[in-house]
Parts: sequence; C-alpha cells; structure tokens
Amino acid sequence: MKFLKLLLLLFIVQTQAQQGGMWIPSLLKGMNETEMKNLGMKISAEDIYSVNKSSLKDAVPQFDGGCTAEVISPKGLILTNHHCGYDNIQSHSTVENDYLTNGFWAYKMEDELMNKDLEVTFIVSINDVTSQVLDGVTSIMSEVEKQKKIQENISKTNASFKKEAWQENRIRTFFEGNQYILFIIESYKDVRLVGAPPSSIGKFGSDTDNWVWPRHTGDFSLFRIYADKNNRPAAYSKENVPYTPKHFLPISLDGIQENDFTMVLGFPGRTQEYLPSFAVAQIQNELNPAKIEVRDAALKVQDGFMRKDNAIKIQYASKYAGVANYWKKWIGETMGLKKSNAIAKKQKEELAFQQNVIKAGKQVEYGNLLSDFQKNYIDIKEYAIARDYFTEVFLRNTELLSTAYKVYQLEQVFNTKGEQAFNDRKNNLLASLKDFYKDFNPTVDEKVFEKLIQIYATKSPKQFLPNNLTAINSATLASDIYKNSKLVNYEALTKLFSGDSKTILANLNQDVGYIFVKEIADKYMKEVLPKFDEINLKNIALQRSYMKAQLELNKNARIFPDANSTLRITYGKVKGYEPKDATIYNCTTYLDGVMEKYVPGDYEFDVPKKLIDLYNTKDYGQYAENGKMPVCFIGTNHTTGGNSGSPAIDAYGNLIGLNFDRVWEGTMSDINYDPSICRNIMVDARYVLFIIDKFAGAKNIIEELKLVHPKKKSKKRKSINN
Ligand code: ARG
Ligand code: GLU
Repeated sequence: MKFLKLLLLLFIVQTQAQQGGMWIPSLLKGMNETEMKNLGMKISAEDIYSVNKSSLKDAVPQFDGGCTAEVISPKGLILTNHHCGYDNIQSHSTVENDYLTNGFWAYKMEDELMNKDLEVTFIVSINDVTSQVLDGVTSIMSEVEKQKKIQENISKTNASFKKEAWQENRIRTFFEGNQYILFIIESYKDVRLVGAPPSSIGKFGSDTDNWVWPRHTGDFSLFRIYADKNNRPAAYSKENVPYTPKHFLPISLDGIQENDFTMVLGFPGRTQEYLPSFAVAQIQNELNPAKIEVRDAALKVQDGFMRKDNAIKIQYASKYAGVANYWKKWIGETMGLKKSNAIAKKQKEELAFQQNVIKAGKQVEYGNLLSDFQKNYIDIKEYAIARDYFTEVFLRNTELLSTAYKVYQLEQVFNTKGEQAFNDRKNNLLASLKDFYKDFNPTVDEKVFEKLIQIYATKSPKQFLPNNLTAINSATLASDIYKNSKLVNYEALTKLFSGDSKTILANLNQDVGYIFVKEIADKYMKEVLPKFDEINLKNIALQRSYMKAQLELNKNARIFPDANSTLRITYGKVKGYEPKDATIYNCTTYLDGVMEKYVPGDYEFDVPKKLIDLYNTKDYGQYAENGKMPVCFIGTNHTTGGNSGSPAIDAYGNLIGLNFDRVWEGTMSDINYDPSICRNIMVDARYVLFIIDKFAGAKNIIEELKLVHPKKKSKKRKSINN
C-alpha cells in the first residue's frame, strides 16, 4: 500500500513536472525549486537568482530588444543566435566582404566590429512594487480612471526607487495587472561583432526547415560587450575595455542525453495562456485563418518572382523570411490548437471554475465573468476580423499601401498637431523611406496588391468597406495605381513632398494611390478601430478579474504569469516526441543529417566545403560524441519568441546549448502548452565550439572559454563517496 502511494506520488510529480511555465527567477523558492530538483537540478534557486551574490541571471542579458544572449567568458564575450545578430552582420557586409555568405571571425580583439544602436541589457534586481502601483486604485473607479492612476503611480515609483546613476528602473505588469514588478537594469551600448558562421551553417535549412524538427542549423553568432574603465555602460569609444561580467557560463563538453534536466533563461515576448475558450475559438477559427490567407497569397507572388530573378531574390529574401516566419507559425499553431483540443480543454476548465466560484461563495464578484467574456467575444468578432485583414493587407504585406498609410498618418499629424509637427514627421518619414525604396520592386508589389485587395474586398466584413470597393476589378485598379501614383518610387515621392504643407497635402490628395488608401483608412479609423478598442478594453479588465479569481480560488495551482519580455526561467527535460501516428522523433541530430540534407548550390541547403571535409575526416576533436558530431537537440522547456539566443543550462549551471526555435506541432504553446508535443529547439554547445575551433580556426575564442566536464566529475565524486 505504502509502495503504491509512493508510486502514485512519483507519477504525480513526474507528470506535473512537465506542464510548462515561464517563471520569475526571483520567486523560485518553494514549489519550483522542489520540482526542479525532482527533475535532476543540482544547484539551488539562490544560484539562479540572488541579490547578495553573483548568480546565473547575471550572465543573461536581453539582446537588441527582442532576443536573449549569454556571457561565456570573463572578458564579456556573448553568444546569441545568428538570426538575432543577422542585421548587424548584414550591416557590415559588402560585395567584397560578404560576411553573411562567408562568415566573419575576429582573430584578435582589434578586429572586432562596432555596431550602431546595438545594446544588451542586464537585470540587476527584481522588486515587487504592486502595493505602490495599485495605491489609491479602487474598485469603484472606471477602467479609464484606474489606468490613469496606475500610470501616475508607475511614474512616481520609477522616479523614487533607489538605483545607481547609470542604471534604469523599469516597471512591468504581471498576471494581467494583478502584480507589478520593478526591474533595475543596466544597458551596455558598446557591443562588437566577434564571429558569425556563414549562412550555410547559421541559417542552414532557412525557411523550409524553420519551425521544423529534425533540425540542423548552427544558429549562433558571437559578440563582445565593452565598458568604460569602471566596467560601467558607455557609448562606443576606442578607450573602452572588455566588460568583466559578474558571472559567465562555463560550457559543458559532456553533452546531453534523453531525460537530462535542462533549463532556459531568457526574455520571452508574449503568451496568452489564460484566454477563455471563446477567445481561443476566435483565434483558431477566424483570426489565424484570415491572417494565413493573406500571407499565403503575398508569399506565393513573391516566391514566383524570386525563383525567376536573382536580383529580386536578394531584394526580397529578408522581407520574405520575416513574413513567412509567422505565416508558418500560425499554421502550426492552428493545427496544434485543434490537435490538443484546446477549446474543449478550456471549456472543461471553465466549468470547474464556475463550480469553484459557487463553492467559494464568490458569485457576486466572479459569477458573470465567463458570460461577459462570451458576450464580448461575440460583439468584437467582426471588428477583430476587420482589424486583422486591414493590418495584414494594408500595414504588413502590400508595401505601397503601408507606405501610403504612413503618409496618411502624416496628414493626421497635420490635422491634429499642426505645421511644425508635420514638418518634423515628414523629414523623418522621408529619411526612413529612402532605405525602404532600395528594396522595393513595383512589379512584384503590383501583383501582391492585386491579390490582396481582392481578398480584402471579398473577405473583410462588408459593412466596413467603402461601397465601390466590393465591385472592383483588382487587376485594373492595380495597374492604374502602379502606373499613376507618385508613391511607387522615391524620386516621385520626394517631388510630391516639396513645398509647404498646404501644397503637399493638396498634391497628395490628387494622387490615385493616396486617395485609394485614404478612403479605406478613414473608414477603418472611424468605424472599426474605436469600437475594437472599446470592447478590447472591457476584455482586458475581464481578463484581469479572471486572473485574480484563478489566483484566489486555486491557491496551490501552478500558475505562471504570461510572458511580457521580462527575464524568465523555464525548465524541463531533453526529450523526443511523437507528433502523429507511427512517427517518433529522437531528441538529437548529428552532422550526418546535415549531409543528408545537402543540396549543392541550393540557397537553403548548401554546405561549405570545409565542413564537408571535416565531416569526411571526422575531425571533431574533443567535441565528438562516440565519433559523431551532435548538432541540435529538443526539450520540454516552455519558450516563445524572444527566447531566441537563450542559454540552455544543465543541472550544474553550465551551458549545453542555445535556444532558437520550437517544433511546428507545438507552436500553440503560446496559448495552450501541451507537454506531449511542445518542444523547444536548441543548437548543441559542442557544435558551436566545433564550428569556432575546427571550422573557423578561431583558437583565440576557444582559449577565453571555460570548458568543463560536470558529468565525469560528478561520477568521480560518487565513486569516492561510495
Ligand atoms: N522561427 C524562429 C523564430 O521565430 C527563427 C526565425 C528565423 N529564421 C528564419 N528562417 N526565418 O524567430
Ligand atoms: N525564433 C524565435 C525567436 O526569435 C524563438 C522561437 C519561438 O518562438 O519559440 O525568438
């Protein structure tokens, strides 16, 4: 009997331990720490986050606003993804020195390249300021009054919370407005490029393999943080010195095995784990299909041109990848929501929630939450669909239309703020559009316009469209606009923008392209957006109460706050998965798989000759595993966009890999994490080292690192103890 109980307990701990979650590093003591230790972690919560000593969090900065990096040497060397460093690598590339194609390696520090506007941000401390921020906020206030008071309190708290002169305070909300946390941060602004593999390694598999397992991408690049003589943040200067970190990650050479403990520290951007079933149904059945349909059409047109014309391929490669990334993610997410029965699961939870509300006698406070949600999601539906079509067609995927929309906003600035503001905005716009037009191809965009306007005219809710739009011939319209609008090239646009504001606006309002966008945008701004915002604000308030209720009614549940671009930790195990019947995926890939995918000369699957030679001679040095070269692995860590570049850390606190993606079947983890098919994808640290050492011959970099053997050491320790 006792044994059975123990078994049951073990089973509960085991299954519970795989439920996902992105936790706040300063709040791990208790349930999380126990769970992590049960999963195999050998270090303590205090080793991950401490206010008194250096800890893991001191080695993990946010990189360039949207990615994560980790410090891996005592001289401020950091590692992040190739796709995170991409823009910076690109900005140093020329036809003669094409670092994207050929890679870049600084064999001495003097050769490292400075980057404009690149910064990394460390978290100094994490402080709960909920009571200060909610001070004086009462339940009888309207939502608008509440938000105003909260903003005032945030400014006050930010200004008064004690920090050093070179640091900043930043307050973020957690649990949809139920908790507020202040982060003291330090941003380093002199960050130089140290190394990047060629795209045929760093971007191997490109869009075809994006979001897909098995994966074989060496998605990494290296940078170095520089500081002033006092080790503090400073703008770029020759006098700056390599930053001395409070902590850096040793790198394990012992590799990983299925079921090994792993954790990932980083800055996940946004998740929506606590939506009601009505919202999930809307995403799955209405919004994702609409967005996918628009991008599908845009991508097909671009792909057709890119395949026929190399110049267009270069112009559109990066834009295409950007649009394709979330297109592919939404397709995976929609399938995953269905496969994991997310709506039914939410409905079941909602039933239990209702019963709990009654049990706790909280009907007055929470009894109507779900029916209010239901009503709002019915009310918002048409507006939400119209908003997504407008966003995807006008703002995101037809370049002429998004340019015209920016000009439309400029006219609004004139109407609301006057001449001076108009001129400032106009100059900024002209400067930013100059770069845009370099990679703009009107022939491609005209075809995109034709397809997308057709979708907009027929699929977006009719009541919000100008009457004449529904009857258009999109091909005729497209050819008229692209022939006659001044917005199709930079010279014509700058001419249109000369003279005083009155002249400019008068001329603009004669332009076919501009007139077309203005009519639709006006309708959208008057009839869709305000109503959407109004209902959405109600949903935000409801979501806050719903969260509050769940926290109150399920005191012992594992509830983590949705991602909000703040530092989080997620943990799990190295693990394969079975996405469908008779399909079983292993958890690790090897260089053999790179060679299996190799297509000579292909833009996605070419392999550099040097790497083929290393493969043929099996020259893997100390990085091999039983004669094979590991490349990527997957685990049950709960990650999302923003976790790119995040360190994968072993049970002892050493680096074992670098997070860069998720598996396609599991991309619904942003809404419904399902431990059976959600996996994050990491590049193995040994592959990174092998590329730096054997492929690039950058011994200078290897010498800076601390390479360790934690597993061998722990075995030895055990045999001494026994
Ligand atoms: N899917 C990954 C992420 O969301 C990688 C994107 C970059 N790679 C690409 N092939 N577009 O950012
Ligand atoms: N590639 C993503 C990023 O850039 C990470 C993948 C994900 O969404 O999990 O952050």
